[in-house]
Amino acid sequence: MNQLWRTKPLSELTGDAHDKDGLKRVLTGWMLIALGIGAIIGTGIFVLTGTAAANHAGPALVLSFVLAGIGCAFAGLCYAEFAAMIPVSGSAYSYSYATLGEGVAWFIGWNLILEYLFAASTVAVGWSGYLVSFLHQVGIDLPAQLVNAPFGKLADGHIGATGALLNFPAVAIVLLIGSLCYVGIQQSAWVNNLVVAIKVTVILLFIAFGINYVSADNWTPFIPENTGTFGHYGWSGVATGAAVIFFAYIGFDAVSTCAQEAKNPQKDMPIGILGSLLVCTVLYIIVAAIMTGMVNYTELNVAAPVAKALDTHPALAWLAIPVKIGAIAGMTSVMLVMMLGQPRIFFAMSRDGLLPQFMGKVHPKHGTPHVATIITTVLAAIIGGLFPVDVLGELVSIGTLLAFVTVCIGVLVLRVTKPELERPFKTPLPWFTCTAGALVCGYLMYALPNDTWVRLAVWTAIGVVIYLGYGRKHSKLRNAA
Ligand code: ALA
Repeated sequence: MNQLWRTKPLSELTGDAHDKDGLKRVLTGWMLIALGIGAIIGTGIFVLTGTAAANHAGPALVLSFVLAGIGCAFAGLCYAEFAAMIPVSGSAYSYSYATLGEGVAWFIGWNLILEYLFAASTVAVGWSGYLVSFLHQVGIDLPAQLVNAPFGKLADGHIGATGALLNFPAVAIVLLIGSLCYVGIQQSAWVNNLVVAIKVTVILLFIAFGINYVSADNWTPFIPENTGTFGHYGWSGVATGAAVIFFAYIGFDAVSTCAQEAKNPQKDMPIGILGSLLVCTVLYIIVAAIMTGMVNYTELNVAAPVAKALDTHPALAWLAIPVKIGAIAGMTSVMLVMMLGQPRIFFAMSRDGLLPQFMGKVHPKHGTPHVATIITTVLAAIIGGLFPVDVLGELVSIGTLLAFVTVCIGVLVLRVTKPELERPFKTPLPWFTCTAGALVCGYLMYALPNDTWVRLAVWTAIGVVIYLGYGRKHSKLRNAA
């Protein structure tokens, strides 16, 4: 039992970090903000806003973005404290190993798989939707059976067969990006800056032109009346909408995985995490307001809702093509971040003995964690090819929210148990911020559909079995003791 709570000494973590020669400290605060935006803006804003507005929140989607943004701001402050204090690349997994013990670390690492690997699949499905919509616009129509998921949510909310064969574009893009990760593409800051510039520009264009076509009629009623079911409009719909679009904010924590490459992590980590979060929150709230003002929310349950809002107004149809290209480019960069991040988490867990050693192998020529990359790619391709964006997005959200709750609690626990540690960035009013962060993120979890909870429970049970059957016995920390 003691082993569950055994922590990895901080000095060892930092030692691991020094082992990783070759990681150069080149990233400045501004570059980290751009990296964060590169990881954040993707399927959430370009795809999930549509279902969230149509099925849950209506025009009050704006409030959903505010609520989810508040939860992320609290969690972001907690991440910033950890990332500045323990600037290593394993993110929440490493923080919890150093502070809350091996059991919690495994639990978080297992949930980070839901965040990174499943998010790569989710974004691939969103990417596929925009590609199909773009190709349609230029006169090419792919057969529906080859661009849709064979499994989907049926009318009763359960998953069943849809009649489609495979989401082929989603599989193809995952395989392509996985190959790039295998040979060791470093998402260079330059390429990232370019993609960020493209996606922020299309969003600003959408805002600048769309605002002229907003009709107040579409905002009335602002909070549609609840249908009698939790999460279907009304205030509970705002909460469920927030839980669904929470996915749009995921990625700011990925900044923390670059801690070893930051010039001055103590100062730049908080800037990168909180700066990227702030920019995206402001953009999201404005886009949600304009989108639901341009088109009635009932019509937004489509794969490319931002483009739908533009298509509704013939004078703006020209903007739909740049927006689709921007969305496709933007989602590609999100996938790249997720698929670079996941193998590195597998790698860290394998080095600690919690996963089999072969997952920590490094390619002799490319210097990449190639086995972990292949495993990530194959799994992400299968998942992305079979399931629809809403089911995947909800699962990613619940896993990430759980990791955020744990990080918020972790910061507070550490303030009490190890007050002497040097904290270059301190979360302000920790009792309030950490508790509020855990409560808001916990509430968003609660607002997700029951089926998602069942999937989380199954996922956790698999994780417990693997830990008890493998990780506990092979843990380096245990064997060194
Ligand atoms: N926040 C990222 C997206 O929306 C994961 O695609």
